[in-house]
Amino acid sequence: VAPLVVREIPSAVANLGVSQVNPALIIARKRDGGRLPDVEFTEFVSGYARGEIADYQMAALAMAIYLRGLDAGETATLTRAMLESGTTLRWSASGPPRVDKHSTGGIGDKVSLVLAPLLACCGLWVPMISGRGLGPTGGTLDKLESIPGFRTDLSLPEIQRITADVGCVITGATSDLAPADRKLYALRDVTATVSSIPLITASIMSKKLAEGLTALVLDIKYGSGAFMKSLDDARQLARSLVDVGTEMGVDTRALITDMNQPLGRMVGNALEVDEAVATLEGHGPEDLVVLTLELGSELLEQTGRAADRALATQRLREKLVSGEALDRFRAMVSAQGGDLDAPRRRADRTEIRARAPGYVASINGQQLGQIVIELGGGRKQTTDSIDHSVGLEMAVRIGDRVEVDQPLAWLYAPPAAARAAAPQLEAAIGLGPQPPPTPRLIVERIAPSAGRAPEEP
Ligand code: URA
Repeated sequence: VAPLVVREIPSAVANLGVSQVNPALIIARKRDGGRLPDVEFTEFVSGYARGEIADYQMAALAMAIYLRGLDAGETATLTRAMLESGTTLRWSASGPPRVDKHSTGGIGDKVSLVLAPLLACCGLWVPMISGRGLGPTGGTLDKLESIPGFRTDLSLPEIQRITADVGCVITGATSDLAPADRKLYALRDVTATVSSIPLITASIMSKKLAEGLTALVLDIKYGSGAFMKSLDDARQLARSLVDVGTEMGVDTRALITDMNQPLGRMVGNALEVDEAVATLEGHGPEDLVVLTLELGSELLEQTGRAADRALATQRLREKLVSGEALDRFRAMVSAQGGDLDAPRRRADRTEIRARAPGYVASINGQQLGQIVIELGGGRKQTTDSIDHSVGLEMAVRIGDRVEVDQPLAWLYAPPAAARAAAPQLEAAIGLGPQPPPTPRLIVERIAPSAGRAPEEP
């Protein structure tokens, strides 16, 4: 196994010093629509990370960026400065390629749990640093914590050891990875500056690039259950993320995928782990399997592990049906202290039936996510604890015909809570007289812009 090293990245402008940067002038420049010079912008951000630039100055700059935007070069500068505020994982050049997938989050999205072991079976290393749920979409770490004993607080040496031993790891960010992002994200949250494409780009990419990746694939979701409600916004975010990743030397691609209905049937932490395990046993829902194989095929192609997408998909499918990926998932769970065979609690099940006949015309993902939060399966505040046993199971998909009394979904919750949530769940599933067009799961593929190629590392 190739030796691994964690290395501090030296700042590109270590010698400038914050005393030579006038924060008010930089804020004014962006306020007036100007371009921020690389060196001053870097020093502003690293000064903020070190505590030498005040929160109120960073908040003013964030708002100026929110209103005026950043171009691709400025966004890359911000990303690099946030990345360089902390430690990065460094891997031996002679070891396997390191890959990861990042999703902007969706209802029922448990792709990471299937994809990480699947890629590890193909000889790739997957040091996946993931997040918790806040708002309607769930978090991968919360899902995994429904497995008794599973640890999501691994140290950097543990991440490296398990990646080298098993091929994949899924854990939370350590405090020394991109600390500027943690600080800036908290500030954006309370200053109405979260929904800015350049700020989102720098936030996501600084954390992903800290993993020391060879290739990255992004799943940018749009629709009722996604962070990006419109296809156009999803396209802009995908382009920005792919361009910054490419600019920073990582082969980065994106898929834009539909999130106008849950992915798979299960929504809720333990329920989603059960569905991921069923998928690894070879009998997962079609949409989850298709998306997992598509994202995986991109990475096999990007790293030269498959000559074309068809061969890549075939290889991944074989690993899934042979049970190899399940064995790898079990090994990862065990290396992270978990017991996959220990029972995962499911709350009582209540059936929700159709009151009228019709075709399923719409499913409001945001509302489904909200129901799971109300049941205790998600958070309203970062400090809330989670009930892993609650959630819902969909019986229908967009386009299905339903008759009166046919099941629409099942709620997993204590009976009184299920009774309270039932009207909301019924309202989230819209029925119409005509069959609607079937939504396409994978809408677009975003490759690096012409003329942009990954830098030599
Ligand atoms: N996810 C992140 O990590 N950062 C953002 O700014 C938005 C979503």
